[in-house]
Amino acid sequence: MDDEKLKTTELVLTAEIYNKTDDLQVDDLPANLRKHYWDDKEGTVKRPLNVTAKDLTILYNIKNPVEIAKSLPFLVYEEFGSQLKLTVFDLGVKWLAKHKQGAKCIQNNPVLAHFYENYDSLDVSYEEAKQKNEPKEVSRQWIDSLISQISGEKETEEVLKLAHILVPEEIDQTLDQLVLNQDQKDEVEKMVKAIQFRDYLTRIGLLEIGKLLFVGPPGTGKTSTARAMSGKLKIPFVEVKLSMITDQYLGETAKNIDRVFELAKGLSPCILFIDEFDFIAKTRSSDEHAALKRAVNTLLKAIDNISLVKHGVLLIGATNHPHLLDSAAWRRFDDIVNFPLPDEEMRQKILEYVLSEIDGTFNAAEIASITDGYSGSDLRMVVREAVLNALMVDRFALNQEDLVRAVGEFNKRSAFNYIPEDER
Ligand SMILES: Nc1ncnc2c1ncn2[C@@H]1O[C@H](COP(=O)(O)OP(=O)(O)O)[C@@H](O)[C@H]1O
Ligand SMILES: [Mg+2]
Repeated sequence: MDDEKLKTTELVLTAEIYNKTDDLQVDDLPANLRKHYWDDKEGTVKRPLNVTAKDLTILYNIKNPVEIAKSLPFLVYEEFGSQLKLTVFDLGVKWLAKHKQGAKCIQNNPVLAHFYENYDSLDVSYEEAKQKNEPKEVSRQWIDSLISQISGEKETEEVLKLAHILVPEEIDQTLDQLVLNQDQKDEVEKMVKAIQFRDYLTRIGLLEIGKLLFVGPPGTGKTSTARAMSGKLKIPFVEVKLSMITDQYLGETAKNIDRVFELAKGLSPCILFIDEFDFIAKTRSSDEHAALKRAVNTLLKAIDNISLVKHGVLLIGATNHPHLLDSAAWRRFDDIVNFPLPDEEMRQKILEYVLSEIDGTFNAAEIASITDGYSGSDLRMVVREAVLNALMVDRFALNQEDLVRAVGEFNKRSAFNYIPEDER
């Protein structure tokens, strides 16, 4: 009951303060309230924000909101519209400030922190509350309404067939969970800074930054690293595979490329990840058709015309076949980041990470020493096999033998499907 009173008071005060304070933005609303009150059409939370009995039930699972309202002296319940209204604002303000959990609740709510910052006896900071609160850009709702705003309904459908868009809340692997070498870490850090200090870079006219090419065999973490960067920066991730935007009608391909780049600009700041970058090279050498050349040229021009500093789009290309790229393609990137197969030390770290949630006794160093040539993705597969094999006999704890056996099976399988190294 007490907790329900607290939540109800928090919500009613938040709505009241948000409604009457023009300085407060939609990002100031706590993420759960923002999601609840989100207006898909407008792509924001519209004022005024009202609190109904139903809101309390949905948000906090409060079964008897009317009784809660009646038990608080500063609230009334209006049958008409089933709204909860504040009668004496100052009384509600005082009640929350005095509540033993009040300060904590205010500190986690930027709208309240903004109001209470100068309220005597309370030590809360708006800046701190705001930093802890997730910005709207991490949510699916926000990106969906933005996409439908920047393109018409029909166009939206088309472009979504070409590009896969992730928002930070959907990205499950963080940079900390990836095992990267120092060069990779430095490059990632450089780009994170470039996005953070974009205004400064514009001011000093340093525009040649923000186009990266990730090069390395499959399964070495190229896609995961690019995604994790967008998770870290809390900006959307737009992923396209070149094979997917290449239409059998070549005239469409050039249009598709423009659509994708326009989408990325509309979602700025964001990361535009172009996978299978070598695809352009393949089509180039196999066919001299004029339309095909035009499509490739459209892509190269689109890359030239997009800038991190001007448009807020960080472009990352990725390829497993760098030798297929010609100088016209290489020239477009300001930095090449190598993703080599992991060495023994990195393999050990990847295994330790993958095994960290799994019970049992095993020695990751020994497995690392017998998995030369394995990618990060191969190592994950080995662990998965070991886990599944143990589950076949209803066993949850793994031992070293399970892992060694899974390596053996993996070797047998890859000998069977042998792919020459330069084709991988
Ligand atoms: N260096 C690494 N550290 C941790 N996990 C890795 C690493 N390299 C690959 N993986 C894992 O292998 C899987 C495939 O990686 P991915 O990023 O798709 O590789 P790529 O894009 O280079 O083909 C992912 O689950 C990823 O987490
Ligand atoms: Mg990939």
